[in-house]
Amino acid sequence: MTEQKKLKLGVIIHGVGGNISGWRHPEIQTDASVSLDFYKNRAQKAEEGKFDLAFVADGLYINEKSIPHFLNRFEPLTILSALASVTSNIGLVGTVSTSYSEPFNVSRQLGSLDHISGGRAGWNIVTSPLEKTALNYSKTVEEHPNHPTRYKIAAEYLEVAKGLWDSWEDDAFIRDKESGVFFDSEKLHELNYKGEYFSVAGPLNIGRSKQGRPIIFQAGSSEDGKNFAAKEADAIFTGHGNLQDAQKFYKDVKNRAIAFGRNPDEVVIMPGISPIIGKTVEEAEQKYLEIANLVSIEQALAFLGRFFEHHDFSQYPLDEAFPDVGDLGSNSFKSETDRIKQTAKEQNLTLRQVALSSATPRTPFIGTPEQVANRVQEWFEGQGADGFIVGYDLPSSFDDFVDLVVPILQERGIFRKEYESDTLRGNLGIPYPINRYAKEVVNK
Ligand SMILES: Cc1cc2nc3c(=O)[nH]c(=O)nc-3n(C[C@H](O)[C@H](O)[C@H](O)COP(=O)(O)O)c2cc1C
Repeated sequence: MTEQKKLKLGVIIHGVGGNISGWRHPEIQTDASVSLDFYKNRAQKAEEGKFDLAFVADGLYINEKSIPHFLNRFEPLTILSALASVTSNIGLVGTVSTSYSEPFNVSRQLGSLDHISGGRAGWNIVTSPLEKTALNYSKTVEEHPNHPTRYKIAAEYLEVAKGLWDSWEDDAFIRDKESGVFFDSEKLHELNYKGEYFSVAGPLNIGRSKQGRPIIFQAGSSEDGKNFAAKEADAIFTGHGNLQDAQKFYKDVKNRAIAFGRNPDEVVIMPGISPIIGKTVEEAEQKYLEIANLVSIEQALAFLGRFFEHHDFSQYPLDEAFPDVGDLGSNSFKSETDRIKQTAKEQNLTLRQVALSSATPRTPFIGTPEQVANRVQEWFEGQGADGFIVGYDLPSSFDDFVDLVVPILQERGIFRKEYESDTLRGNLGIPYPINRYAKEVVNK
């Protein structure tokens, strides 16, 4: 009998939250974005709920319109290294941009996190949408690579990283005091990579980990983004407002994976959701309003503007049709800005409606524990998702998810009661990557 496929769950730990005004809610610890205790507490809560992974997002450019969490927050791999020592099974996935970093440094940092955590590291590959990021990296705005180029760079970058992670075969380190042999020189490999964007000799100065190498996540949903993910990623972080859109994306990416000769089950699709749970539907709605009502229309316009290179939307009439901004956005958060423009047109939305639905979305995951569990099951069984990255505006919403929704999912047999493995790869069900140079396969 084949075992029933299980749902995968991640938590996005996001300090004071993704909401522009959420930090003003009485429940929020206002320095949460730079509080080790806060991150530790959230990661441990997720581990109590047998979550596959904790996820840390990132960005490399801020201005005075950025949301409070972006203004003062931890660098992902640094905080995840600290979390590694206070957790034991949960995966630790950090966001690092391929447009503004060097593959040697990042492969080394991720390799280190993978060792420190005993094989629980993951890398969320992003391409840095905002052009002014260039100004923080000794470049001009004109030198910010365009959208297709960013994906070309990402593809080459990942090729280099995977090559570096194979520098040492699994059993290369002999460490025999008696003979004085520290490593087997036949199992050490230089990379000598020369491409269009990178030239890296290697070898990397850290060997393979318990899970071989870190798990690769990808976030970015344009055509280029989907192709990159379908070809290279182990898992995908995405976002959808309804099941139909999720199903369309799911089918599309899985078909692309098949076309690249991959097993579609080895590309785990995880949309982000922000459940809000109440004892009754009314209580859940009330909790949603408590956060939504904190956001002024000016703040909602600023939140929306960020996706369009921080465009100033306050210059347009609020209650008229969403303005025609031409191509704006297609070189930054392309998939998101394409979606916003298309939805506004199809549904005849005003600027006010678009801004509020972006800053305070009313998602399908608001309701009683039973209702939220039903929705999760519906998306999972309806092939809209292999799992979810669970976000929250209020920490208590995440506690509610772990305490009230997870047990229902476990009872229904769609989510684990115990970890299957102590590596992220093992829990996600992604096969061990055999070192490209290995003549003999070391049993894992
Ligand atoms: C769900 C999701 C999460 C993302 N998270 C981040 C992030 O944490 N940091 C970042 O710089 N970019 C993030 N991005 C931006 C992407 O890396 C990419 O630059 C952007 O979406 C444009 O690519 P696309 O048109 O393929 O979506 C995210 C995108 C998506 C869809």
